[in-house]
Amino acid sequence: MKVLVIGSGGRCHAIVEALSRSPKAEKIYCAPGNAGIAALAECVAIKDTDVEGLVAFAKENGVELTVVGPEAALAVGVVDRFREEGLKIFGPTKAAAEIEASKDFAKRLMVKYDVPTAAYETFSDFEAAMAYVRRGPLPTVLKYDGLAAGKGVVIAQTYEEAEATLRDMLLDTKFGEGRVVIEDFLEGEEFSLMCFVAGHNVVPMPVAQDHKRAYDNDEGPNTGGMGAYTELPFITEEDKAYAMQNIMQRVADALVAEGCPFTGVLYGGLIKTKNGIKVIEFNARFGDPETEVVLPRLESDAVDVFMAVAQNCAPEVKWSEKATLGVVLASKGYPGSYDKGYAIRGTECVDAKVYHMGTAIKDGELVTAGGRVMIVVAEADTLREAQLKANAEIAKIECDNLFYRKDIGSKAFKY
Ligand code: AMP
Ligand code: GLY
Repeated sequence: MKVLVIGSGGRCHAIVEALSRSPKAEKIYCAPGNAGIAALAECVAIKDTDVEGLVAFAKENGVELTVVGPEAALAVGVVDRFREEGLKIFGPTKAAAEIEASKDFAKRLMVKYDVPTAAYETFSDFEAAMAYVRRGPLPTVLKYDGLAAGKGVVIAQTYEEAEATLRDMLLDTKFGEGRVVIEDFLEGEEFSLMCFVAGHNVVPMPVAQDHKRAYDNDEGPNTGGMGAYTELPFITEEDKAYAMQNIMQRVADALVAEGCPFTGVLYGGLIKTKNGIKVIEFNARFGDPETEVVLPRLESDAVDVFMAVAQNCAPEVKWSEKATLGVVLASKGYPGSYDKGYAIRGTECVDAKVYHMGTAIKDGELVTAGGRVMIVVAEADTLREAQLKANAEIAKIECDNLFYRKDIGSKAFKY
């Protein structure tokens, strides 16, 4: 079978790698792909949002299954267009992807269907928003309603900070025309529960935990994710069963009831609070970097899994019992400004998976080409071993302009 993967980061590298393990994937294309993906797939220079270009490529090359990585492609309706053309594709329609694209849509759905989440209100008027904030406790959580590439959430510790943020979001044009969801601050341990969803069918993946802050001990600014691991000792089987029943299944059913059934990966960004598990956010796609630690544990044939979902059926999914842990190498300065083009050496000596996030080939040499550059993922029988291995292997990579966190997974050892 010929398969096309849309996207380019570490998440797509992990998807392509899972597909490459399937004997059914005779040819894998990736649009646009990256320097690491090029070892496993034929990279084609089509942007992930160039829907017509992607449709034309799939038709001309006899692609039988397409898998979508990034949210930007979903938001421009790539799945809707492929389906109109009778092409099989793994991912939600634009309408179903609203669960990620619009925080207000997600919140309204959760309230209507009794899915546990923080209390909230939505505002487009600055004065009304400020009045609401002043009536409530601090810290308060301000979320720009729309895709803001992870930059749209501010946890304001003071009323002054809240006011400045609301000015930015509602009065300035920095974010464009918009609304703000203001919600209660939740306290607890965050975790990610991704599920394969096809209408009412909901099949969970191993639970993972992202590390969003740039530096050790969760210090520094928020990033796209500096590392992740599976399994989480503080999330019990009962917790998982609760989250599956009251959150993931309920939302899948709700989307069917609302006339926009979901197919693809529904990502629950959840938090275990004193008062139970609640939703922080939903994404309509594989999480990054969670996917890079989850998919290595997939023992089922990835083509079968993605194809089943694309055909609106429950996939049969088997996972290995291994612990996985991934550490991201990022360019110095990230998530702020950083330089590119530094040579990277030693990846061939690494005895672990290396997924490329932002790399390029320049004059025949592998160089840095993004904020997050690569992720090294170790598998082992225990999380401690996986952590030791990931840290030992990452040290083999030489580059003058990279940094990484040395404490990925350490939270798990507190429990
Ligand atoms: P989001 O873009 O919704 O994932 O938010 C980014 C991050 O902000 C989350 O991963 C949380 O760490 C934090 N966050 C969002 N909403 C809340 C909330 N209601 N309470 C506490 N932290 C939150
Ligand atoms: N790891 C968070 C995300 O993929 O949005």
